Amino acid sequence: MTATILILNGPNLNMLGTREPGIYGAATLADIDAQCVAAAAAAGYKADCRQSNAEGELVTWVQQASQNADIKGVIVNAGAYTHTSVALHDALRLLSCPVVEVHLSNPAARESFRHISYVGPVAMASICGLGAAGYTVAIEALARKLRS
Ligand code: DQA
Repeated sequence: MTATILILNGPNLNMLGTREPGIYGAATLADIDAQCVAAAAAAGYKADCRQSNAEGELVTWVQQASQNADIKGVIVNAGAYTHTSVALHDALRLLSCPVVEVHLSNPAARESFRHISYVGPVAMASICGLGAAGYTVAIEALARKLRS
């Protein structure tokens, strides 16, 4: 049994580094994954970092996590599915472990179509606008919650 934090990234986040760096920063997803692995290890967890452009694959991974006792917490940056996916919302409701929503940018300060989040209502916290550092903050927040 390996206590694990599952980190899910949604559509277009595989393009980080080249995708609108003025909004999302210069870090690639590989950089962020490495940062997550290190932050999780420092807190005593394994990081399982995944990315998909497919809504159904993200839903399946959340369903699997809901039946995997090793998964102690889930971090979700659902990309644009944040603002559209009732399916992902419903899947996240299956989880009994804590969920933290992360966004590199601050959607509340952007276009109005980004102001609705279907992830936020099932998350213990939403961390927005901190760039790649938001993932480390999310891991630390989850670890703190799991210790309490
Ligand atoms: C994002 C914000 C979303 O609105 C956008 O569709 C993304 C990235 C972020 O991390 O800031 O793909 O989730």
